[in-house]
Amino acid sequence: MRGPSVAYADMLTQPAVPMSTAAARELVTILKAEAGIRIDPSNTQFISYRLDRRVTALGLDDYDQYLLHLQSPEGPAEIQRLVESLATHTTSFFREKAHFDWLDTVGLPKLIEAGAGRAHPLVVWSAACSSGLELWSAGIVLDRYSHKVQGGLRWGLVGTDISAAILRKARLGIYSSSELSGLSFDLRSDYLLRSKPGARISPKQRVYRIAPALRNRAHFSSANLLGKLEGQVPLADVVFLRNVLIYFTAEDRIRAIRNVMQCLRPGGYLLLGHSDNLRSLPEGLTPAGTAVFRKD
Ligand SMILES: C[S@@+](CC[C@H](N)C(=O)[O-])C[C@H]1O[C@@H](n2cnc3c(N)ncnc32)[C@H](O)[C@@H]1O
Repeated sequence: MRGPSVAYADMLTQPAVPMSTAAARELVTILKAEAGIRIDPSNTQFISYRLDRRVTALGLDDYDQYLLHLQSPEGPAEIQRLVESLATHTTSFFREKAHFDWLDTVGLPKLIEAGAGRAHPLVVWSAACSSGLELWSAGIVLDRYSHKVQGGLRWGLVGTDISAAILRKARLGIYSSSELSGLSFDLRSDYLLRSKPGARISPKQRVYRIAPALRNRAHFSSANLLGKLEGQVPLADVVFLRNVLIYFTAEDRIRAIRNVMQCLRPGGYLLLGHSDNLRSLPEGLTPAGTAVFRKD
C-alpha cells in the first residue's frame, strides 16, 4: 500500500532528513505492528514528508537516530506520534452520502421499530472517526429524525480513533471553512456556531463550532481496532467502519470487523467504506444494502 502522493512544491520546502532503506523498512514495520496500517517502504517521499519535521525538531540527524529514539524511555509516546503522523485522516461531512440517506430512510425506521431509541438509547459509533465529521453527520441525521418522531428519541454518539491528536480535534468540534464542504448552508445554520466577525478575521480565517445539540451527546475515546474493544465502547446500534480497512491486510480487516462486531447489538448495522472491498466477511453478518451489513 503506497501512502498518498506528495505535492512537488511541498517537497521542495521540506528539509530532507537522510533515510536509509533499512530505516524505512523498520518504520513501516513498527507502523504495521502498532496500527495495522501498511505503507510501502519504498515510498520514502511520503514518510519523509510526514516525519522529517519531527525528526528535525528532536535534533536528530537521520532516521537511524530516530529509530534509536523509538527504543528509548520516550519510545512509547514517540511511537504514538509516529502512528499519528503516518495515518491518513482524510474525512468530510456526509462522505459517501448514500449511507446517510440509507440511515435516514431505512436504518433508523427499522432500528426504532425494534425498540432502539426508546427501550434503550440508539447509539451510533464511528469506529475510525478521524476529526469527527462522519460522526457529526450521523448526529445531524439522528437529531432531525428525532424531531420528527412523537416524543423524540433517546440517542447518543460515540467516536473512537487510534490517534489522540485527531480525537482532541474531534472533541473540540472546531473546524475551518475549508472543512465544511458537504454540509449544506441550511445545515450549517442549524448545527454550527460561527466565530464572531472581527476586524482582523477574514471570512477564510473564520472558524465554526459544532452546536451543543450534537456535542453534548457525543463521547470520544481512543481505541485501536486491532485491540480489544469490548467493554471500551457502549453497545452500538450502528457502526461506521469506513475508509480505514483499506490500509490493513486481509487478515487484519477480518480481525477489526470481528472486534467491532463484539460491540454491535444483534440486529444492528455495520457500514463499511464503499472502497473497502472485502473478499470475505466474518460469519454473522448479512448484506442489507450497499456496503451495509446486519448483525444476525
Ligand atoms: C481516512 S480516515 C477515515 C475517517 C472516516 N471514517 C471517514 O470515512 O471519513 C482513517 C482513520 O482511521 C484511523 N485509524 C487507522 N488505523 C487505526 C486503528 N488501528 N485503530 C483505530 N483507528 C485507526 C486513523 O487515525 C484515521 O483517523
